[in-house]
Amino acid sequence: MAERATSRLWLAALGAFVLAGLTGSLLRWGLIVGMPQGLLWNNVRHAHSHLMYFSWVTPALIALIAAHLSRIVGPARVKRLVHMGVLALVLGLLAYPFFLLYGYTPVPLFNARIPLSTVISSLNMLIWYVFVVLYIRITRGVTRTLPLRFWDAALVFMVLASVGAWARAALVAAHIESPFLENAAVYLFLGEFSDGWFVLGVLGLAHALFRHEREATASMGRNIMIAGLPVVFLLGVPLQVIPPGLRLIAGIGGFLVAIGTLFNVLALWPSSQEHFGWRVALFFLGVKAVAQWLATSPAVAMWAESLGLRVPYLHVLLLGFVTLGLISGAELMWWPRARLASPWMTAGVALLIVGMLPLARLGPSGWGKGWAPVFAAVTSLGPVLAATWIGVYWLRTPVGHPQKR
Ligand code: HEM
Repeated sequence: MAERATSRLWLAALGAFVLAGLTGSLLRWGLIVGMPQGLLWNNVRHAHSHLMYFSWVTPALIALIAAHLSRIVGPARVKRLVHMGVLALVLGLLAYPFFLLYGYTPVPLFNARIPLSTVISSLNMLIWYVFVVLYIRITRGVTRTLPLRFWDAALVFMVLASVGAWARAALVAAHIESPFLENAAVYLFLGEFSDGWFVLGVLGLAHALFRHEREATASMGRNIMIAGLPVVFLLGVPLQVIPPGLRLIAGIGGFLVAIGTLFNVLALWPSSQEHFGWRVALFFLGVKAVAQWLATSPAVAMWAESLGLRVPYLHVLLLGFVTLGLISGAELMWWPRARLASPWMTAGVALLIVGMLPLARLGPSGWGKGWAPVFAAVTSLGPVLAATWIGVYWLRTPVGHPQKR
């Protein structure tokens, strides 16, 4: 039963991925034909990124962690983890229209103005806390295998990330205006959530699904990552507002996270040989680690910022590694004979990322105009189409039924 419940949660999260991906694609088509009336570009961007974080990655990762744990502690004990995943997904979907239409600005409601997107997102964070408490209870007494050690750490960084979100709200409430503190709070959330919760979480999943002989390398990599993660978020703070001493500490943190990540890529690489989706995901993780390493140099960071490479970097990590990892993870967990992370999905992801580069002003100055926005708009649809196919496959081949290739 747990298999069915967890895989259903994963499928629902994939539905949110399709909606969030279409919203991202709208940003690209909006550059060519203009945004639909009433929608502001920035609000659509917030709707896209929040839905991806809250209703795709987080519930999908919860579903896969719960599926693995159910094989250790039994299905009955993970039921409530799945419920938390469902609640997180639903709250993310509830916040979506408010982000889309109003962004962070308050919504007029019964003679008052309430920032509904922020309020619903805060409720979502409470659900994460409940998930963490349940995870601690369920895994108490369970041997700390490699995947569990990764997930233990991933959840610590999820909680740390949430402190950034509360700190941002506290700064607003206390009318404190400090460009450094405001940026630090925002990047505490973004950095720890993606580099901590997502990356450690998906790496834990990979270690759960692959048997490999390189546990010691992976474990050392994990420890090195944990040493750098608490300060790595400071790398995101613009160079103009961060004190030089702190930037140096951030650089050391970034270096440690990059090295620890590469250790894990090396540990997993040979055993992923048979699995194309994981191979490509690990390749993107390696690219991300090298880019992060290079960005520890302020000169490189400034150069990358001036070229607008932040968004392609984010998608190498979030789409290239995290999303492909979650899809490949579902494949190995529930449909080992299927090819969910098919060449279509991996090619779609790679083309989307390539399509972002000309827009990031990397190429000849003309790339930003002419064919580049059209190429970016067309390629933005690839992962959405491939994900829709996966959803159809799931509906036609529920877990436990014979699988077709
Ligand atoms: C279906 C695939 C996707 C498409 C078509 C897409 C499209 C986009 C676009 C067009 C932007 C705005 C770029 C700009 O500012 O120039 C963007 C930003 C962003 N996307 Fe995606 N994206 C996809 C997947 C993802 C995934 C899987 C995640 C996270 C799990 C994600 C998270 C973000 C974030 C955090 C930003 C930056 C938001 C900000 O700066 O406020 N995207 N995406």
